[in-house]
Parts: sequence; C-alpha cells; structure tokens
Amino acid sequence: MTLQRLLGIELPIIQAPMAGVQGSALAVAVSNAGGLGSLPCAMLSMDTTRKELSAIKAQTDRPFNVNFFCHAPPTPSAERESAWRAALAPYYKEYGIDIDAIPVGPGRAPFSSEAAEVLHEFKPAVVSFHFGLPPAELLARVRAWGARILSSATTVDEARWLEANGADAIIAQGLDAGGHRGIFLSDDLTSQLGTMALVPQIVREVNLPVIAAGGIADAKGVAAAMAMGAVGVQVGTTYLLCPEATSSAVHRAALRSEAARHTALTNLFTGRPARAIVNRIMRELGPMSTAAPAFPLAVAAVAPLRAKAEGRGSGDFSPLWSGQNASGCKEIPAAQLTRELAAAI
Ligand SMILES: Cc1cc2nc3c(=O)[nH]c(=O)nc-3n(C[C@H](O)[C@H](O)[C@H](O)COP(=O)(O)O)c2cc1C
Repeated sequence: MTLQRLLGIELPIIQAPMAGVQGSALAVAVSNAGGLGSLPCAMLSMDTTRKELSAIKAQTDRPFNVNFFCHAPPTPSAERESAWRAALAPYYKEYGIDIDAIPVGPGRAPFSSEAAEVLHEFKPAVVSFHFGLPPAELLARVRAWGARILSSATTVDEARWLEANGADAIIAQGLDAGGHRGIFLSDDLTSQLGTMALVPQIVREVNLPVIAAGGIADAKGVAAAMAMGAVGVQVGTTYLLCPEATSSAVHRAALRSEAARHTALTNLFTGRPARAIVNRIMRELGPMSTAAPAFPLAVAAVAPLRAKAEGRGSGDFSPLWSGQNASGCKEIPAAQLTRELAAAI
C-alpha cells in the first residue's frame, strides 16, 4: 500500500515531529501542502497540547500526525543528580548560577492516559511514537478512532518488535538522523545503522510499509530512499530553517554555519543519545558521559546554563539538534520545501 493511501495524504513526505523547535504552524503548513505535518507533544503540557491541536484543526482539514515519547520514567537518584551537578559546577561558576536554586524535574513526559483523553477530543488521523510503543491498553485507546500508528525502529529487531506489537508502518531511523535516537530494545549504540544500510534490511524483514528517516535533505535523497523500498520519508533537520519552525537564533546560526558539518550523538542534554551539532559542552564533557542521569533527568541541570548562554548569544550549552546532512536547510516556507522534496517522485 502506498503511504499516500495509508495516511490519506498527497505526497509521501512526513515532516518529522521535532519537540522544542516547532509547534502547530509548521504542521499546518506541511499538511496543507499535501505532506503529513506533525505536532510533537513530548514537551507540551496538556493545556498547550489542546491549544495546539485546536489551532491545527482550525487551519487544515487534511490529516496530521501527533507525536509522543513513550519511555519508562526512571527512578530519580540523588547520587547521580549530584554527580551531574558536580560535573557542571565549573560552568555554573562561570555564569554565576546558584547551584541550589536549580529545580530538579523530568523535562519530558511519556504518553499517558491524560494525553489519550486529549487526543480523543481531536481524533488525529496519525499518531506516532518515539522509543517504542505505549502499553497495549493506551495504544488500544488511540486505535479506537482508527488512527494509524507509526513508530521509529533503529534496528531490524526493533522493526520486527513494532510489527508484532501494533504499528501500522515503521519509520526506519538511520544513524544519520537528527535529534533523539528512537532506540528502545537495547542501549548498545554499536547496533545502530546508517539510513542506507537500515532501510533495505527492514524492508526485507517486515511486511509493514517502511518510511525512511535520517540524512534526507533534498528530492534526490527522497527518490533514493524510495528506490531502496521505502514508501515515503520522514524529514526533520531540513525543515529547521523554515520560518514556521521555532528554532532558536543560536540553533539557526549553527545550522547555517560550517559547524553543522560536525554532529555527534550526545546524552548530555537529556540523558539519552541524540544527534546534535558539536558545541562547547559536548566537546568538554562528552559527547557521551556516564555522569548524565537517565533520560529525561539530565535536562534540568543544563537548562539554566543554556538560558544564560543563549542570553549572551551563545549556543555553547544548547542542544543544537541536527542530522548529519544539514545541506538542505533553507529559509523558505515549509509548503515550498515540501513540494521541492517531492519533486523527483
Ligand atoms: C530538532 C529535532 C527534534 C526531534 N524531536 C523528535 C520528537 O520530538 N519526536 C520524534 O519522534 N522524533 C524527533 N526527532 C527525530 C525525527 O523524528 C527524525 O528521526 C529525524 O529528524 C530524521 O533525520 P533528519 O533530521 O536527518 O531528517 C527530532 C529530530 C530533530 C532534528
């Protein structure tokens, strides 16, 4: 089945949900252009989720995707938290931040019963998850109104697991991809494959439609992914300079610069491996560090450093999420970018 038929869209282009750098505006623009716009909810309160979903409904009749994380929240450890703060202490000193005034807190909430309730009011055509799938009871509630369910696989084993546990299509997320790795069956990063190696192997091993993600920056990349057997693509980084994205000034500057050619997987910003442009904190403490608490508990202690540095125009402590290929980033409307991505298929 084509992706267009499965999801009720015109172009096989999914705008990747990107928590923290976009809201309803980007989703509306892409859906109205014939692709599938996405609303990332991992960092939104229930109230904001409801407002953003109302905004989408008011501006498009087309299908859109709503995205959630579904990690198991960790048990906080005071010991790990204090080790993490000790690692950051020299920076707190440099920026005059009072270490005791920094709140502890999770920063990212997993899909919940409350979220399912909010979603039910809007009945989106597509719901996608990162880090596996939610518990069967919650997934059944989403399926009840006929939503198509997508989730990312970073290995063939994860793709098989998603097929066995209720996904309707699989997003094959290559190692090239920006943002968090969807990895959920293991924490062994040596298991991770580039998009070009991952997509054909998942296509061969599962019967579900496969969507390619990671490093796709232009129409040729889209055509290449489809030549490997993908039914469509999920594109993130390439949308980050669009005016509808809410990417920060330091993030935009980094994406436009030569620095964007050097990305790495880092756990410093959240506790889970995610790909970002290498910056000062990644160079000095990582990019991977055993001091960072479990996802998403690493977020709170870095947040004040990020805020102070960004206030001075510096991205030294910001998560400058990017895939390995930022060459397609353009400051053009997302609708135009979506049509350009689909130009060779
Ligand atoms: C800034 C940014 C934020 C992201 N946030 C999310 C998210 O909230 N949920 C999700 O499922 N994937 C997220 N991702 C991963 C994307 O779904 C996708 O796998 C990735 O963007 C594809 O690689 P590309 O960035 O090279 O196009 C994010 C990616 C980026 C670049």
